[in-house]
Parts: sequence; structure tokens; C-alpha cells
Amino acid sequence: MLRDQNLIPLSRQHQHALALCVRIDRASPLRDADLAAWQKEIAEHFRTEIGIHFAAEEQVLFPAARRFEELVSLVEELLADHVWLRRRFARAGACDMSAKDLSVFAQRLSGHIRKEERQLFERLQQLMTPAELAGLGKGLETALNDAVRTCILPTAATKLQPRE
Ligand SMILES: [Fe+2]
Ligand SMILES: [Fe+2]
Repeated sequence: MLRDQNLIPLSRQHQHALALCVRIDRASPLRDADLAAWQKEIAEHFRTEIGIHFAAEEQVLFPAARRFEELVSLVEELLADHVWLRRRFARAGACDMSAKDLSVFAQRLSGHIRKEERQLFERLQQLMTPAELAGLGKGLETALNDAVRTCILPTAATKLQPRE
């Protein structure tokens, strides 16, 4: 099914994350010399996009999906994925992952995204009315934009600090 326009911002971010997973997969087994660079990129991707994406899903998308009885267990599973994945993103930030860890991580992240795209999004598009989807889209837009603003401001503020 064609992706509903209200879910496209999340789908676009899924494409970015999937591209990273594919690159990790193609480069596997990762060389020891490259482990730090991969983890730096993964941590950066979390900071600039995935952290905000997870929060928008947890605050807006999952509560909307939970209202449908048949999606409750899927949402539970997706939330458990977020917990597992957040821990790995944090470990990447601490440069604490092995080549094997990174390959398991990439598989779990791509599996998580596939579940959201093929099961959650598909079903939501069938279950929700156009008006409900539009409301969901608005909520997501606010969550994604507010988070971006909150993330950007401290950096801008830091840049404006007078030199000592
Ligand atoms: Fe997710
Ligand atoms: Fe997602």
C-alpha cells in the first residue's frame, strides 16, 4: 500500500536508518580499525534523528495505535525494541561495541523498521479514517519539529557564548 502522506516524515527517517543498516551489513564483518568510526556515526545518527524519531513514535504514534485492540501487542513489541535499541545507541556513544554487536544491532534496527512499515503503518492506514490520519500527522509534525528546535537551540546558544 502506498504510504499515507501523514506517515511520510517517519518513513523518510526509516529510509535513512535502513541505509545505515545496509552499509553496516555490507561492510560486515567490520574491521577492528573501523569500529570506532562506525560507532561514532551511529551515535551521531541517534543524536540528530533517531532519538527524536523514537520520542515522536512513543508520544504520538504508539498511543494512537494502541486504541486498536489488534495492535496492542505489536506496540508492546515495538516499545521493547526501542528499549533494546536505545541501550545499543548509548553503547555506541561510549564506543563499547564489538563487530558482532554492531551487526546484531543493524539487524535488530532494520527488523524493527520493517515491523513498523509493513505491519503498524499498513494496518493504521486501513483502520484510521482520513481525519484521524490527518490528526496523527499534525501530532507527529509537532513532536518532530519541537524536538528539533529543542535539540538545535542549545547548540546555537553555545555558539553565541562570548569568548573568554
Ligand atoms: Fe520505532
Ligand atoms: Fe520508526
